[in-house]
Amino acid sequence: MAIFVDSSNVAEIEEIVKWGVISGVTTNPKVICGDGVCGELKPVIMRIIELVRGPVSVEVTEENSEGMIAQAREFAAWDSKHIVIKVPVSEQGLQVVNTLEKKLGIKTNATCIMSFNQAYLAALAGATYVSIFSGRIRDMGYCAEDIIGETAEMIEREGLKARIITGSIRHLMDVTEAFLAGSHIVTVTPSVLRQMLWNPQTERTIREFNTIWREMKGKGQIR
Ligand code: E4P
Repeated sequence: MAIFVDSSNVAEIEEIVKWGVISGVTTNPKVICGDGVCGELKPVIMRIIELVRGPVSVEVTEENSEGMIAQAREFAAWDSKHIVIKVPVSEQGLQVVNTLEKKLGIKTNATCIMSFNQAYLAALAGATYVSIFSGRIRDMGYCAEDIIGETAEMIEREGLKARIITGSIRHLMDVTEAFLAGSHIVTVTPSVLRQMLWNPQTERTIREFNTIWREMKGKGQIR
């Protein structure tokens, strides 16, 4: 199991990396625009790679296979070891995943997956990662846990290389459920990651212990 951070906010990533719990980063066009990245994308991605030293997903925005492949080659050339190309699933998308993985040796992350069938096809096409969008699946009234569980079982049974990344995480329970259902990786925003750590009872307990300690020290009973 592993945790990735779903962000392109360099300052946030720099802080979080210090915790020692993050092994990769995912981005998408909405995340990049939402984080206010301005100007050239390359220096931002290169800085993230420098901080994380793990896989960093960057998504293609072209919608035909030639355009996607050209964009993918451009991104991958920035750092072929760490950059993973996010390709949305579609007929063209599967073709691109297959070409990048099998002909060009470029790692892919098949993204925007909402069903078991899409995950299965992407894994068959050769994707290194399949990104299942938990929150968006629930928005449609389906059970994300079932899709993650079925995909995990299929990958194991068929001996496919794909690793499941569960994204579109909105609540703490989504993280727990994704891991318990068999997701290899969960990608979370910095805010969800902080929620994973924070607990009011922990805060109260730390305050209680340290208050007692300070009182004893103040009275000179402990030196
Ligand atoms: C994951 O790879 C995606 O970037 C992300 O989690 C999508 O989440 P959203 O539903 O919040 O857009």
